[in-house]
Amino acid sequence: MFKVKKICCIGAGYVGGPTMAVIAKNCPELDIKIVDINETRINLWNSNDLNNLPVFEPGLSEIIKSVRNKNLFFSVNVEEAIRESDMIFISVNTPIKQKGLGAGETSDLRWVESCARQISKIAIGHTIIVEKSTLPVKTAQTIKDILFSSKKNNKDDRSFTVLSNPEFLAEGSAIKDLENPDRVLIGGDDQKSMEELKKIYLNWVPERKIIFTNLWSSELSKLSANAFLAQRISSINSISAICEVTGANINEVSNAVGQDSRIGSKFLKSGPGFGGSCFKKDILNLVYLSKYYGLNEVANFWKNVVEINEWQQKRIYKEIVKRLFGNLADKKIAILGFSFKENTNDTRESPAISICNNLINEGAFLSIHDEIVKPSTIEKDLFQAEKNIENNHNNEIYEWEFQFDIYKCFKDSDAAIFLTEMPIYKNLDWQKISSIIKNPFWVFDTRSILNYEYIKEFNINIWQLGNGLNQ
Ligand code: NAD
Ligand code: UGA
Repeated sequence: MFKVKKICCIGAGYVGGPTMAVIAKNCPELDIKIVDINETRINLWNSNDLNNLPVFEPGLSEIIKSVRNKNLFFSVNVEEAIRESDMIFISVNTPIKQKGLGAGETSDLRWVESCARQISKIAIGHTIIVEKSTLPVKTAQTIKDILFSSKKNNKDDRSFTVLSNPEFLAEGSAIKDLENPDRVLIGGDDQKSMEELKKIYLNWVPERKIIFTNLWSSELSKLSANAFLAQRISSINSISAICEVTGANINEVSNAVGQDSRIGSKFLKSGPGFGGSCFKKDILNLVYLSKYYGLNEVANFWKNVVEINEWQQKRIYKEIVKRLFGNLADKKIAILGFSFKENTNDTRESPAISICNNLINEGAFLSIHDEIVKPSTIEKDLFQAEKNIENNHNNEIYEWEFQFDIYKCFKDSDAAIFLTEMPIYKNLDWQKISSIIKNPFWVFDTRSILNYEYIKEFNINIWQLGNGLNQ
């Protein structure tokens, strides 16, 4: 009887690494390999110094320490892992397509397709392929087509089933989300394979949380869940702008609205716009899918969620320029937080990138602090992400610096912009800050984390997102 003993995961990224680590911890009898074509990344996962793991997640290094080289192995040998495995998770990147048909809207599936082709050539016996990556609806059909067409003749006794098992973890709380998920979604058309995958999760997830659907419902549910979450953020961000002009306060409005049990309080925190590698990409996929099926009104509805998000980032940048007398040349600005949210080293689609690029373009010098993101990542983001911005970076001029010491960011600066909600930013010594900054000085609090009245006592100007007192 077919029984899953060995599994592998193709893609050792933000999803593959933590997901397999948690499976390894909860299923000691399973032999698990995570493989990747990126050798540097694999070396970092194998690093003796657990501070060097390529993904920062609270609680991750402790799990890696307990399971690595016991039942969890990191390797670049993709072929060997495919050949040995009964179940293969595909957890590769699916970014937005840059060129050709659907560019800027649908996902680039080259990495998924290349996995399917490799599996079709190398796998032996019966193999269950699990889509872990977030994919456009109907991708499972593409994978099936590639796999089934590889069967050479009737004597070829290899067989494949394809399941969809999207991941719902959020960065910064990945381990908590994986250990205690709201639900585990398994989409498929082969009951036995679905049960095999379910058995793995049953090692730590209660049965009532495991949902079975057909393949297309599963693929669509993942896109829809992200679209709903992002839509709440755009909704509250649009209200934040109304607060600022009417005298209302976004935290008070958000609290009052969220107390309605039908609405709920989560994901109602206004900020500089959602970042991260997925929300925008997944909504754009939904937009593309809707347009493809002629559902233009549906496409426009979701497109607006992305547009409000871009508008929010731009309007914050404009507020900054306006309050600094329309001129940023020769001004030093402290940037507190560069990742797309707190507790992660991930900067993909971080609002900090577009805001910082626009400020540099205005002639400002940025002094950037982030507790987790590496300076080299910031350098790459600032100098490779100007595509959408009218930007004239001059590499001859030194436009930014990285500071480990927050107070050095403030020294002789004209303004400070708070972009992430790291706890450390909530307890700064404003007495000390007031003695080292220039005057007049502006604080821009895009996450509403600072004590507005207290900071004003130090003769510091403060603009707070969604705060009607700004006037
Ligand atoms: P990532 O870029 O961090 O990792 C993907 C890895 O796949 C890379 O290391 C890459 O080298 C590797 N890879 C690509 N093609 C390969 C191949 N043919 N063989 C071996 N390795 C290959 O991406 P991620 O953030 O882990 O996201 C992966 C998928 O999960 C995406 O579809 C994303 O939408 C989805 N997702 C991400 C999150 C998140 O929080 N990051 C959460 C839920 C779902
Ligand atoms: C999000 C979803 O929360 C996950 O369920 C999903 O699996 C994942 O995307 C994915 O598919 O990649 P993630 O992007 O890691 O997770 O982080 P979130 O906590 O959702 O934050 C996304 C962005 O929204 C951040 O920039 C965050 O600052 C912002 N946000 C979030 C707000 O501005 N307000 C909020 O109330 C919540």
